[in-house]
Amino acid sequence: MIHAFRAELLSVSRDPTDDPDAVRHEPDGLLVIEDGLVIARGAYTELSGRFSDIPVEVLPGLVVPGFVDAHVHYPQTDRIAAHGEQLLDWLERHIFPAEKAFADKAHADTVAAFFLDELLRNGTTSALVFPTVHEQSVDALFEAALARDMRVISGKVLMDLGPEGLNDTPASGRAASEALIRRWHGRGRLGYAVTPRFALASSDAQLADAGALLAAHPDVLMHTHLAENRRECAAVAERFPEAADYLDVYDRFGLVTPRSVFAHGIHLPDRTCQRLHETGAGIAVCPGSNFFLGSGCFDFAQAQRHGLRLGLGTDVGAGTTFSLLHTQGLAYQAAQLKELALDPFRALWLATAGSADLLHIGDRVGRLEPGQEADFVVLDTAATPLLARRTRDTDLAQRLFALQVLGDDRAAMRTYLLGRCAWNRNKP
Ligand code: GUN
Ligand code: ZN
Repeated sequence: MIHAFRAELLSVSRDPTDDPDAVRHEPDGLLVIEDGLVIARGAYTELSGRFSDIPVEVLPGLVVPGFVDAHVHYPQTDRIAAHGEQLLDWLERHIFPAEKAFADKAHADTVAAFFLDELLRNGTTSALVFPTVHEQSVDALFEAALARDMRVISGKVLMDLGPEGLNDTPASGRAASEALIRRWHGRGRLGYAVTPRFALASSDAQLADAGALLAAHPDVLMHTHLAENRRECAAVAERFPEAADYLDVYDRFGLVTPRSVFAHGIHLPDRTCQRLHETGAGIAVCPGSNFFLGSGCFDFAQAQRHGLRLGLGTDVGAGTTFSLLHTQGLAYQAAQLKELALDPFRALWLATAGSADLLHIGDRVGRLEPGQEADFVVLDTAATPLLARRTRDTDLAQRLFALQVLGDDRAAMRTYLLGRCAWNRNKP
């Protein structure tokens, strides 16, 4: 079936820092969709003649590609806003107890459903997701994502050094990962990521196994954490004195590849950046989490100097919002603390095509170009009285920036998956 939407359209296909032509904007555009895919996009006046006999729906807002959350933990949904600690103590006190409950499949099902609905409510249509160590926590997430037709990548957390009740073994971790890859990878819009929690949570044997899993399945992703917190970095240096830096720990086990996604990267020596660039591995930048846990601020200028591949993540539950729109505003604030004024179009790129490319799904989503899946969000520049006031009579860049700084789930008016409305603020 062919149908179309008439709306203001905006997308950023490449990092606009290097290439201002990367910004594509149709103030009055037409988006034509067939079987869930975009088949044409352009100015309404130019395209409407060619598609005069198909149904056209007018969308009352700014249409951008669906957001791609490059790093988020679904089992931490119920521990968002947990007071008191930085990373390692926060994990012990708040997170590990909550994750233990995912041994119960029914609990995992309930949280997965809420989590995915919350993503849609915030305009997020694709995500790279941490579940827990439990195999059934992955089943719960993938089953719920399949039912909604969302593009979700995930994989059982490997953590044989985890606390009692939340640990696996190299053998059980390997077997469960293999079974899950067979069961889920490539099914519908789902993909698998080999997911060691972080260097401190796995034995050398398990890290080596993760490398072997990756080598055996070259089309899955690798997803972990890197250099988030100073105490964490010191503990890694102490345990792995032979490693040149934190990244080198992963490198020695074959975990640094073009398909590797590292969350955070707050404390990175230049050597790490060189190696990331050389290998094509990338970083999921998570400013909301970094503020909340007091981890620090991502250095966008350093990343740019080294040509790093970047995406944007909420990292809920260390992150305090599911909104990748709001997270773009937080990225601006993190960059400001390092004396860089992040361009609003670059922030939008990070949350859409940047994240999609980082997750190797950029050929499918993130750009809203012909050939891509029609996942998009309709943003309301008048979602609140303040936003309405701040965005009247301003240009596109200022409207977008105001949305990023002042907006959140309230500004996600509707979310579309494959051209079908999956969330409508006015008909919840
Ligand atoms: N490092 C290891 N595990 C975690 C986690 O659950 N959240 C964050 N933010 N960092 C981690
Ligand atoms: Zn995380």
